Amino acid sequence: MDLPNRWLLLALLVGVNVLCQDYDDAYESNYSENDAEVLLPPPLEYMDIYAPYPLGCAPECFCPPSYPYAMYCNNRKLRAIPAIPRHIRHLYIQSNDIEALAAEPFANATSLTDINLSHNSLKSPLVDRKALAKLKSLLHLHLDYNQLEEVPPSLPKTLHRLSLGFNKISKLSVDAMQGLAGVAVLDLCNNRLTDAGIKGKVLSGMKSLMQISMCGNRLKSMPSELPASLILLSLDNNSISSIPEGYFKKTPNLLSLRMSYNKLKAVPYKVFNLSSLTELNLGHNQLSRAFYVPRALQHLYLNDNEFLNLNVSLMCSSLDQDNPNLLTYIRIDNNRLKRAIDYYIYACFPRIQTIFYGEQKAEKKPPPTTKKGPPPPKKASPRLKGDKENNDGDAE
Ligand SMILES: *[C@@H]1O[C@H](CO)[C@@H](O)[C@H](O)[C@H]1NC(C)=O
Ligand SMILES: *[C@@H]1O[C@H](CO)[C@@H](O)[C@H](O)[C@H]1NC(C)=O
Ligand SMILES: *[C@@H]1O[C@H](CO)[C@@H](O)[C@H](O)[C@H]1NC(C)=O
Ligand SMILES: *[C@@H]1O[C@H](CO)[C@@H](O)[C@H](O)[C@H]1NC(C)=O
Ligand SMILES: *[C@@H]1O[C@H](CO)[C@@H](O)[C@H](O)[C@H]1NC(C)=O
Ligand SMILES: *[C@@H]1O[C@H](CO)[C@@H](O)[C@H](O)[C@H]1NC(C)=O
Repeated sequence: MDLPNRWLLLALLVGVNVLCQDYDDAYESNYSENDAEVLLPPPLEYMDIYAPYPLGCAPECFCPPSYPYAMYCNNRKLRAIPAIPRHIRHLYIQSNDIEALAAEPFANATSLTDINLSHNSLKSPLVDRKALAKLKSLLHLHLDYNQLEEVPPSLPKTLHRLSLGFNKISKLSVDAMQGLAGVAVLDLCNNRLTDAGIKGKVLSGMKSLMQISMCGNRLKSMPSELPASLILLSLDNNSISSIPEGYFKKTPNLLSLRMSYNKLKAVPYKVFNLSSLTELNLGHNQLSRAFYVPRALQHLYLNDNEFLNLNVSLMCSSLDQDNPNLLTYIRIDNNRLKRAIDYYIYACFPRIQTIFYGEQKAEKKPPPTTKKGPPPPKKASPRLKGDKENNDGDAE
């Protein structure tokens, strides 16, 4: 895959705003979902709306005459999924009170390509193994905001995008995952995944996986055995404290890595040396030492860490005029920097446009005293605890 194609692909997968996390939102409403479809040729349904055929619609729902392949059942306080007519392709049944995913309503629904079942009360013990197994056209399944404790088993092999955010999933079973070989986009953010819950080869069988989001879980270490097809990995809001040396060797195509809000104190110097890595978000960690910045990287987020200085020479070990580093944006606010960043950064990264220095953290305060204790004794020295750099001499 050459580079432009990969860019297009990424745009399709995650929306055009992927690389400007801090700027955006303007386009979100229109481009963030089902963006792939926008670029496809007009689907058949727009062309044959006048063709006479016996249409049906569940009495609880609404099937617009101008768009008869869609069935809208959302926000109706439904407690069960109604029978889905054979011709329906898009089922919008989000925001109801559905607890069970039964097979019966789907018995004829072989045309379904999209199901939005988010914001319901689906419970894993009430998910029928065969419920969706025969939906041979299903591409997109949205199950966010339910009460699932596991990934539903026996999902159809056609599935391309699966969203399971905001559920109660604590482990991925080999059984459920082995059917997902065709899934390219998997969202597992805001669940209860632990290291033990994703250990072994549960993910490595997902040969088509390009984007996996596991933000807001309970991971303490990097997930093992990610498939080589991966281009976007999101692990924000976990408790990951280290990245093993050579960890990304198995995912050489990674374009974007998001690990904000973790507990990283240090990373191996060359661990991010990946030829395609374009976006790296390590904001809100505890890093204090620079690492090698790979050539293709464009956006680097290091805000809210513990840097006392930013050693630019460590970031780029050599200058190559013919093959310059591509970094354009670096965010380094809310660290403990004492002075401006070395001008060498402009030589090292000739494309740099923005260095977001912002506010820096206040110097570390002495440990807070408990309310019950006596008032703190008068400090012997005016110097504060985090002020290590200047501690060994008075001359400035
Ligand atoms: C998004 O779509 C709405 C209605 O379809 C339109 O009014 C709005 O201008 C669009 N926004 C963008 C950023 O294209
Ligand atoms: C499926 O189709 C058959 C034959 O058209 C019909 O008898 C049956 O009621 C349908 N079932 C559902 C759940 O729609
Ligand atoms: C599904 O429905 C929810 C709730 O209305 C909505 O927020 C979400 O964007 C929908 N997802 C898709 C892919 O249509
Ligand atoms: C992580 O958690 C913080 C604090 O709860 C929240 O503000 C932020 O949006 C979350 N980020 C992601 C990517 O989930
Ligand atoms: C980074 O990787 C490239 C290509 O794999 C290699 O040529 C280069 O020496 C590496 N740089 C460092 C600092 O390891
Ligand atoms: C940057 O790191 C290198 C290698 O560790 C070291 O020799 C150099 O003194 C450091 N530069 C600064 C400004 O700290």
